[in-house]
Amino acid sequence: MSKTPVAVFVSGRGSNMKSLIDWSRKYNNCGWEVVCVISDNKDAPALKIASDMEVTIYFVDPSNKSKAEYESEIDEILNSHDVGIIALAGFMRIIGEYLLKRWSGRILNIHPSLLPAFPGLNVQKRALNAGVGFSGCSVHLVDEGIDSGKILGQATVEVQRGETVESLTNRILEKEHKLYPEVITEYINVINHRSSVEEFIIRMHERFDIIHGTKTGENLLNDISGNKPALGVSACLCGINCRYDGKNQFMKDLLRIDEEYEIVPLCPEFAGNLGVPRPPMEFTLLDVSRGENQVDLQIETGESKLSELICGSEKMKTVFNELSCHCFIGKERSPSCGSNFVHMDGKLVLNKGIFTSILAQDHIPVISDEVFRINSKGVLKRVLLNLKNKKC
Ligand code: GRF
Repeated sequence: MSKTPVAVFVSGRGSNMKSLIDWSRKYNNCGWEVVCVISDNKDAPALKIASDMEVTIYFVDPSNKSKAEYESEIDEILNSHDVGIIALAGFMRIIGEYLLKRWSGRILNIHPSLLPAFPGLNVQKRALNAGVGFSGCSVHLVDEGIDSGKILGQATVEVQRGETVESLTNRILEKEHKLYPEVITEYINVINHRSSVEEFIIRMHERFDIIHGTKTGENLLNDISGNKPALGVSACLCGINCRYDGKNQFMKDLLRIDEEYEIVPLCPEFAGNLGVPRPPMEFTLLDVSRGENQVDLQIETGESKLSELICGSEKMKTVFNELSCHCFIGKERSPSCGSNFVHMDGKLVLNKGIFTSILAQDHIPVISDEVFRINSKGVLKRVLLNLKNKKC
């Protein structure tokens, strides 16, 4: 079973971080593992604990950079570990727009109060001063506010006679160490599809072969025109090696939508017999002098592949319509599937790939994988809702 990689952000002591690492190692069938620990404080005791436990550690220095620069550095680390969930554990910095946009719905925090009561700092002292009978801890999603995101789990602690800030803190902390790993274990089930990446890719390959006619499959149509909305997706994003370098650009987020939507892997390049692997292609602007935006699509040797790609794209559009696909998720920057950018004469320019522009002529919504990665299901829901409203 592949485990969801978790990154833990810390600034200090690290008892929650340690309990997450311990928990994930203790249970063999735990569906997640701590792959790295990131700190804004190079002297954080948590870093030493993590490195002693042989977890990769990073100190990302926040000085002399903007918040966005700082967070983009962190984002690179997260991507290099293919992180699925970020767990803040005593990280003393407010997460900014850069990370929130890219990791929305995947950043969790633990807070030592029963939220929404007592967000912020000095929590136990404020709770005792207020005379609460119960306190506890909460695991919540991180949004732009302070400890204000959706609550995912809570544990309570009854305030005892003669309770001090220290005793309450310790008893809450004990609960935190159990609650946090339990919530993460639940939460990865929510964000991850139950089947494994391997199973998903095998299923997509099967569909791809049938769609492209290399295998017959009478059941495919029934399967796809069922109750769920069907979505066309660039085949390389589904784990199929249909690119020029024979590699795929598998998009993990597809696993999350696989239960709600029927995924139809499409490749206009394959359908246009461009072959895999094939040399990289790029657009070339023709007839600029006549002010016409005529483009050609050439492989490295200068040979034109435009007509093949148009032909493959038309084929794919027929499949798209026959299977009642609602919208298309395309691999940005690809000469066929790019929805906003393509390479033209050595530069990345604002333009659509051939397949995408053919779909766009019919007002079929196209979502780029880059937008989808940031917004995952939210953007799909909005597109489908708009379509529904239009039909009414
Ligand atoms: C914990 O009380 C946690 O709830 C809060 O910060 C503290 C971190 O403690 N967010 P530790 O570093 O995990 O020991």
